[in-house]
Amino acid sequence: PILFRFDAEKAHHFTLNSLRSIEKLGLLPKVDSHTRPTELMGLQLPNPVGLAAGLDKNGECIDAFAALGFGFIEIGTVTPKPQPGNPQPRLFRLPADRAIVNRMGFNNDGSAAVAERLARRADREHADVLLGINIGKTKAVRVEDAVEDHRLSTRRLARFADYLVVNVSSPNTPGLRDLQAVEPLRPILAGVRDEAADATGREVPILVKIAPDLADDDIAAVAGLVGELGLAGVVATNTTITRDGLRTDAREVEALGAGGLSGPVLRTRAVEVLRLLRTELDRDRTVISVGGVDSAADVEHRLSLGADLVQAYTAFVYEGPQWPGRVLADLAAGERS
Ligand code: FNR
Repeated sequence: PILFRFDAEKAHHFTLNSLRSIEKLGLLPKVDSHTRPTELMGLQLPNPVGLAAGLDKNGECIDAFAALGFGFIEIGTVTPKPQPGNPQPRLFRLPADRAIVNRMGFNNDGSAAVAERLARRADREHADVLLGINIGKTKAVRVEDAVEDHRLSTRRLARFADYLVVNVSSPNTPGLRDLQAVEPLRPILAGVRDEAADATGREVPILVKIAPDLADDDIAAVAGLVGELGLAGVVATNTTITRDGLRTDAREVEALGAGGLSGPVLRTRAVEVLRLLRTELDRDRTVISVGGVDSAADVEHRLSLGADLVQAYTAFVYEGPQWPGRVLADLAAGERS
């Protein structure tokens, strides 16, 4: 409640800095995250509840988020060059809907700096948490040069990644979502796959993150491409550019301007997309379901529909640092009853 009195982006930085400092001092109480050990993509996870991309864009708080109970952390989106993102204000809360609108625009330190940070972390003893790295296109790079742009971040970051995500679904980089069409997407995904294998000598699981606003046929086409290229799977979904189903006054919402909407309002479409992916993809492909997850019941629901893992972002903002611990306790209690 105190943080909600501050501008959303200030509260965001304050939270991240505090978490990082408290964790570094060894003062962050550690939640036992081994609630539901899960094996997937050749990886061992303590539980299937992860932090979605965008909160820890630069990989500065991985161990702090792990201490809170998350089974896996997806950092990023990281672009090859550092970039400031869009002008502020660019992050807005809609409390009546427990939703967020953001047009951050991939503000991040760039993949060289993030790789350096991850190399320093690799020297340290750290929690058994899985690390996903989400990469995207630099704003200033032309769509025609997107393949090389993705390969560059892959080359720098793949060796630190338990899995890589290619994010072609943010609404806040002009033209980015057009890369979800099969023709431009194929060489990007194949390039990331090949580059990751070259850089690491192992098969790094590669997933593609899609928008909820894609038509069902386009989602089926992406699923087909994932099968064709032998990729690990799909992360679904990113934020939506629609504004349907909100309680907040429509004029107030419109006044915020462009951006991606997240939170419970995404739930229905995220579930539809999950069902669709599960019919289109072979069972051995991974689906990470994200969008409107805010309770253990939501996690169970997604898993029951065939999600392999589940992520959240907006629920964490509204519920605070105890959220993952509470969800894990509720999952464990559900198993006992
Ligand atoms: C995001 N999301 C996001 N996704 C991504 O792949 N790269 C990113 O950089 C970001 N950045 C970002 C910033 C902010 C402020 C928000 C709220 C969200 C999308 C996020 O990972 C997730 O897909 C959606 O928010 C839907 O999940 P929730 O928030 O409803 O749990």
